[in-house]
Amino acid sequence: MEKLLIIDDDKGIQKQLKWSLSDYEVILADDRESAVAAVRRHEPKVITLDLGLPPDEANASEGLAALDEILAIAPHTKVIVITGNDDRSNALKAITAGAYDFYQKPIDSDVINVIVSRAFSLAIIEEENRRMRSVAGSDIGIIGNSESIDRLRTMIKRIAPTEITALILGESGTGKEVTASAVHLASGRKKKPFVAINCASIPENLLESELFGFEKGAFTGAHRTTKGKIECAEGGTLFLDEIGDMPFSLQAKLLRFLQEKKIERLGGRQEISVDVRVVCATNQNLEEMVAEKTFREDLYYRVSEITLNIPPLRDRDEDVLILAQYFLQRYALDYKRNIKGFSDDALSAIKSHRWPGNIRELQNKVKSSVIMAPGTQVNAIDLGFFDHVDQGIELSLNLRQVREEAETIAIQKAYALSEGNMSKAAELLGVARPTLYSLIEKYGLPINIE
Ligand SMILES: Nc1ncnc2c1ncn2[C@@H]1O[C@H](COP(=O)(O)OP(=O)(O)OP(=O)(O)O)[C@@H](O)[C@H]1O
Ligand SMILES: [Mg+2]
Repeated sequence: MEKLLIIDDDKGIQKQLKWSLSDYEVILADDRESAVAAVRRHEPKVITLDLGLPPDEANASEGLAALDEILAIAPHTKVIVITGNDDRSNALKAITAGAYDFYQKPIDSDVINVIVSRAFSLAIIEEENRRMRSVAGSDIGIIGNSESIDRLRTMIKRIAPTEITALILGESGTGKEVTASAVHLASGRKKKPFVAINCASIPENLLESELFGFEKGAFTGAHRTTKGKIECAEGGTLFLDEIGDMPFSLQAKLLRFLQEKKIERLGGRQEISVDVRVVCATNQNLEEMVAEKTFREDLYYRVSEITLNIPPLRDRDEDVLILAQYFLQRYALDYKRNIKGFSDDALSAIKSHRWPGNIRELQNKVKSSVIMAPGTQVNAIDLGFFDHVDQGIELSLNLRQVREEAETIAIQKAYALSEGNMSKAAELLGVARPTLYSLIEKYGLPINIE
């Protein structure tokens, strides 16, 4: 049985709540001090809190202070605030302070049960999410637990201390640059610069001076001697992204730098020795380019002493969930949004999507959902997966199922449209708030009230 803490100084209400909420192991407290002690001792996932606690029964100061203290020691606890029937402003204060929901007296056994049971479901899902997240961290910035990512991490750590030149291959958005930077971070060069240059995004005539630098007067406009990216990476790592787009005319010069570790600036007469580790990436087929003679064979062998293949996200099993959780946590912090996790429909949409844009696509979707989600949970609609939710209707011919699915979608859409305001959502749907609560409960919808 889950533990539920009821904080109320009114013995009558205590009794009534205890009787209504008989599915739980109820712990009782009647003031701030005993409540905080009970939180420490029993660690309940869900608490009901009467705001009018002694010595300030008529106001909410003591209740709000208790709320603060509880959330300070147990921030994940779902606190349902119970207020007098016309005390909306304190209820809202409590929600702003981090309470999960509020409930206005008088106590209705059915409604309070729905609210409490939803709070428990949510607390349990969130706990699970946090547990998953804790395994996701990584020292070199590569997140994921799948076998293929484990293998990649092992390879990175193995090649990092060597001078071997690695060629990173993978679809767009799979983490080629992240991998290059991981090679740098795992090497003895990590305190020196990591410099990235994208050969595809710099016009051909500028690429040479970008890479090799130039002397004053080397060409019109060369007002002063300028170091190129190679020199800027001295002691560190140079990441040549989209190496397949390196103009043929520059390839010989690049090869010379790779072999002799010496460069000459444009317009310069003297050779400069450089100590730079090179990592390359491309999503072009270099072998084909070699066959077509658009990429020098000797350069190809020189840059691909070892090849790292980054698998697409759809082939990385549970990584997609781990990464999604990671981005959610990160953007919730960045954008100061009180978002705790994903709903079940969001998780299943994330799992079934093919992710053609790989991690970058996932990252963008999670980022905008964190900014846009009205509640404290991100659901499939927030992620832009309307189709995922809608599809069921066409597939099913069972009337009850069709109705249930349609209701589920309508509720979620109303919830999104009303920006999480439950009274508004109920109004949109043409039902009373308690009816909406029981539908949410019936379908187990992971919807929050704010
Ligand atoms: N394993 C990972 N853990 C955490 N974040 C990742 C991981 N892989 C990629 N990312 C993030 O995903 C985004 C895309 O990664 P990256 O830029 O390295 O991909 P790419 O393969 O270079 O893409 P493109 O081919 O489009 O240049 C980045 O914001 C990066 O931080
Ligand atoms: Mg890239």
